[in-house]
Amino acid sequence: MPKEIQKDFIYQGDCLDILKTFPDRSVDLIFADPPYNMQTEGELLRTDGTAFEGVSDKWDKFGSLQEYDNFSKLWLAECRRVLKNDGAIWVIGSFQNIFRIGYIMQDLGFWILNDVIWSKPNAVPNFGGTRFQNSHETLIWCSKDKGAKYHFNYKTMKHLNGDKQMKSVWDIGICIGSERLKDADGKKIHSTQKPEQLLYNVILSSTQKEDLILDPFFGTGTTGAVAKRLNRHYVGIERETIYIEAAKRRIDSVQIEFSDLIDNAFDVKPPRFSIKQLVQLGYLSVGQKIYSKDRRNYAEICEDGNVQDGETKSSIHKMSAKFLKRSNNNGWDYFWCEYNGEYVSIDSLRYLAKEKGGVQ
Ligand SMILES: C[S@@+](CC[C@H](N)C(=O)[O-])C[C@H]1O[C@@H](n2cnc3c(N)ncnc32)[C@H](O)[C@@H]1O
Repeated sequence: MPKEIQKDFIYQGDCLDILKTFPDRSVDLIFADPPYNMQTEGELLRTDGTAFEGVSDKWDKFGSLQEYDNFSKLWLAECRRVLKNDGAIWVIGSFQNIFRIGYIMQDLGFWILNDVIWSKPNAVPNFGGTRFQNSHETLIWCSKDKGAKYHFNYKTMKHLNGDKQMKSVWDIGICIGSERLKDADGKKIHSTQKPEQLLYNVILSSTQKEDLILDPFFGTGTTGAVAKRLNRHYVGIERETIYIEAAKRRIDSVQIEFSDLIDNAFDVKPPRFSIKQLVQLGYLSVGQKIYSKDRRNYAEICEDGNVQDGETKSSIHKMSAKFLKRSNNNGWDYFWCEYNGEYVSIDSLRYLAKEKGGVQ
């Protein structure tokens, strides 16, 4: 019988075994950074002849592509089972594995929402000069099924991107400096530790506060560290003790970041009050003038909840669009008024009405 998942905990073992013990539909988001199956052979040398530490770890080795595909099908199928119906999954990979992973995900029924390119301004060069410098990895973002609900904090991401719609190419440096976990001899603890900014974008865009995020290939716990910072819960699975110990130390030292971003304040739907209701509740009155913020334009509130400017009568949205010479606009963002001796946006009156439970 599957047991309840222990939150904010790292399970040690093979994810194929541990995932089987988790109940159906129990996690809100999955971030998976599986073995790449790099298939590298021999030593990689820099131009100065020194050895480059790439991904040559035992955990990345598979006997054949078939073996890698079978492994991928098994963990992805288990992930799909434990994902809530309105949850989502992100899988990251490089050219060696991401096409195989994407094919398998589609066959299992996941529905691709985007593929995001993680572009690395400080990528490792192609030392031999035999190919282009490989300077990106791909993240596949899927909902559980075609048409399934999923969570996307669109406005939060737009805000993070200087008020422009965020694109599917993310420029983020590879993990270096103080963020890179090192052992007592100054050697990298993990060959593929991901940058926290990458997980910040993933988690902030597709979860809500206190959601549970599963990472079946936890490594040094980048997912856990960012989940904690953003006031979300994590559950990790990892085989290697050395990575688990490093992840625990790292997560213990993380502080929750307090900001409007982590509460997804930009994406919270405004309280549902109409102009007519605000009049009925006494926050606005019939005949009252409401203004553009700079007071250059104004309209008067009508009894039916529309507004009129002496020429036309329409909704606050159409009236604000007319003033701005646009085809449409959000009137709640445009109009301001006098309220109790203060100049406030009419939008703030909706929040006030909600706070007071709809009564003045
Ligand atoms: C690409 S790394 C993940 C790195 C991680 N995202 C980070 O930022 O540190 C993949 C990790 O999966 C672990 N791993 C590989 N096969 C596994 C399996 N079958 N079950 C659990 N963990 C596994 C490896 O030990 C390795 O740490």
